[in-house]
Amino acid sequence: MQVAVYPGSFDPCTNGHLDIISRASRLFEKVVVAVLINDKKHPAFTLEERVEMLKAATCHLSNVEIISFSGLLADFMRQHGYSVIVKGLRAVSDFEYEFQMALTNQALNDKIETVFIPSSSEFMFLSSSIVKEVAKYNGDLSALVPKELVPKIMNRFGKEK
Ligand code: PNS
Repeated sequence: MQVAVYPGSFDPCTNGHLDIISRASRLFEKVVVAVLINDKKHPAFTLEERVEMLKAATCHLSNVEIISFSGLLADFMRQHGYSVIVKGLRAVSDFEYEFQMALTNQALNDKIETVFIPSSSEFMFLSSSIVKEVAKYNGDLSALVPKELVPKIMNRFGKEK
């Protein structure tokens, strides 16, 4: 079975992430969304919350699984026998960092191939940081994140919508 791993922090999941997950789910038999456990990053949402939000946003996609991982992605891939990483590319500015990560993962595990999926143009500007910034100022998140996640994200920033 051709499995693609889509790794990230997902703090929180955005419509841009969902766009990449749903397009990858049409290209691969299974998509494993791998949520990074990284306490040093001080995420706004706990690991459990990030996983639950992704599960809620992807429940209509039967070949998508949400899991968490810690440590090196290359090791996680080896442990599970996965070889394809999917990454979304929003703009040229993403490319340098993503290219560096792709080459590092390849150097650490030569079975790994990274497949880049270009962001849909409507989500090119979107990031988890932008979502948190808008939420902080009580802005409208309805075009930025899956609609079922809006109340949870607004509540985290002390606002009711
Ligand atoms: O959503 P993010 O924060 O941009 O995702 C980054 C992520 C999780 C894909 C990246 O930080 C990662 O793979 N971390 C695991 C540690 C690792 O393998 N680092 C070496 C690759 S450069």
